Amino acid sequence: MLSISSRLSADGTAAFGFGGDYNPEQWHPSVWQEDVALMKVAGVNLVSVGIFSWALLEPSEGRYEFGWLDDVLDLLQESGIRVDLANASASPPPWFSHRYPQSLPVTANGVRLGYGSRQAFCASSPEYRRAAAALTTEIAKRYASHPAVVMWHVHNEYGCHNQPCYCEVSGAAFQRWLERKYDDIDALNEAWGTAFWSQHYYRFDEITPPRQSGTFVNPTQVLDFARFSSDELLDCYRAEADILRAHSPLPVTTNFMGFSMGLDKPIDYWAWADHMDLVSNDHYLVAEDPRNFQELAMGADFVRGLASGGPWVLMEHSTSAVNWQPRNIAKRPGELRRNSLQHIARGADAALFFQWRAAKAGSEKFHSALLPHAGTDSRVWREVVELGADLVAIAEIVGSRVCGAAVAIIHDTDARWASELDSHPTIDASLLNETRLWHDALYRLGVTTDFRRSTDDLSSYGLVVVPMQYLMTDAGADSLRSFAGNGGTVVITYQSGIVDEDDHIRLGGYPGAFLSLTGTRIEEFYPLHEGEEVELTRYGSGRVFSELGRPLTSEVLAEFAGGPTAGSPAITRNRVGMGTVYYVGTSLTPAGARELVTEILTASSIPVPQKSGDDVEITRRSDGTRTWLFAINHGSADAVVTVDGVDLLTGAATEGTLTVASGGVAVVRETVA
Ligand code: GLA
Repeated sequence: MLSISSRLSADGTAAFGFGGDYNPEQWHPSVWQEDVALMKVAGVNLVSVGIFSWALLEPSEGRYEFGWLDDVLDLLQESGIRVDLANASASPPPWFSHRYPQSLPVTANGVRLGYGSRQAFCASSPEYRRAAAALTTEIAKRYASHPAVVMWHVHNEYGCHNQPCYCEVSGAAFQRWLERKYDDIDALNEAWGTAFWSQHYYRFDEITPPRQSGTFVNPTQVLDFARFSSDELLDCYRAEADILRAHSPLPVTTNFMGFSMGLDKPIDYWAWADHMDLVSNDHYLVAEDPRNFQELAMGADFVRGLASGGPWVLMEHSTSAVNWQPRNIAKRPGELRRNSLQHIARGADAALFFQWRAAKAGSEKFHSALLPHAGTDSRVWREVVELGADLVAIAEIVGSRVCGAAVAIIHDTDARWASELDSHPTIDASLLNETRLWHDALYRLGVTTDFRRSTDDLSSYGLVVVPMQYLMTDAGADSLRSFAGNGGTVVITYQSGIVDEDDHIRLGGYPGAFLSLTGTRIEEFYPLHEGEEVELTRYGSGRVFSELGRPLTSEVLAEFAGGPTAGSPAITRNRVGMGTVYYVGTSLTPAGARELVTEILTASSIPVPQKSGDDVEITRRSDGTRTWLFAINHGSADAVVTVDGVDLLTGAATEGTLTVASGGVAVVRETVA
């Protein structure tokens, strides 16, 4: 991964990126001087420009007007503020959609979406692709050597609003994609199980996207369409990124939405990450989620996985309320600081926001910004300025990596997509919820977790959690088997390893892919009623799911004590080679998960930090020589953390223990023992 941190300061000293989306075209040029003056006050050093500027940059086809953007970039350059320059392909202008209405996306039920919002295009549209490439070429040619520009921002949040598209053009592209994948139609029929319901195809050109039909559409067709749709957008990204790279050596990125309220669903981020010079992510808190800080931590851990463990860019978050949730709750004092430093604690080398100046018009006029409607005499502005100073105080950490993660959580995109298909045992089983349950149990104990794919090298971990990885390839199952065989500990939950990559059941007892690992054979699922809990003989109660099965080689740690499968194993432990595999056949309560995780960590000799309070988050970054401990207290009581060193935020030395006030943050350069 490339880095931009040494280009953010005048003297080349590495700095955290601090700033956000800057949309000067929404304001009269007389405001721009004030913008940069205030950016300097706050310590802003990086802004993203031009993301939604297509309509102004290209007023009519092939006619470009860059004058205003030249002025903005020159002004930023004079002020020493660096630019993440967009290629502006995210929102085709009305003239484009008007002229090429066939480029507008179509929903599964055949409705062609209108324009007047953003991202109004079909990823397979040749007109869109041609126009985006032409615009990207002009921008690359004009600004590749502009001294303010330090990185390229392709598009914006791919797939957020327009994915997937079910139009005829997408349908033809889907047929070609399928032909490349299967080569022969019989292979497709086999993979899709088309003997069912008379769905046999004789030619690729008979196939359509999985449009709305009378009832459930073929699930493998839906899964392949998800894969195709992600690939189709990736083609768009790659074409535009290639143009930028041909003109300039600067790093290219596009902003991901890792785990963001399901908005990330259309994209296989693992596949995309290989094409980023720098991984970047947007994260917005769900204001009404009482543990949204833990959800933030999980999202950041996932993005760090996408960045192969190295630093990444937090491209957007919010200083306070957003505009698009049902109730847009403002952040409380100190929350902005905790959120930003939390991302940094988990590997971000930049804390950027949407957006610099709060808009006065348009759909996002109630979205918070660094500079609020109220101006500089405001709580948000004061907190922004303080955060700018904090980032300078901890600048020595830039470029270091999060260290000490002894636990990995497996998250395969195909498993996620397949788990969310129709006609499953229960709508209450959710891969994301189950992932969050296990991440939260580890989070409460202060244990840092990485996210990995099942096929990744897992050898550096002591414990690997497999939460509801419903679809499992042979390669993934082999990888986990050898991890366990070599002495690792694995936790596998219900609804894991149920199907292969074609969404075909693995026969002979569940969980088919993992039977030899769990040593517990499940013969029938017994999903629970909505809200029902069944008691377990240990670890509290189970929710969502229960199962009928029996141990083959495993030892039963807990049985279902009540409910339809009373007496059947709920939690088992199996020895596999030199390792241990736990199987959990239900969704535990947070307390039950904590109890089990604590036992597993102890049995696996994985250290747990010394701290008081569940909501005190502990992580470390290291540059190989020095380590820094981040302690962030989201709880309502002050907390005590065991650490020796200097808190960079206050300059105070700590010996042995440090009290982190409720809502407070400490960033301690640790004393080398
Ligand atoms: C996304 C987009 C931004 C803006 C914010 C609002 O992250 O990238 O353009 O719409 O949401 O929260």
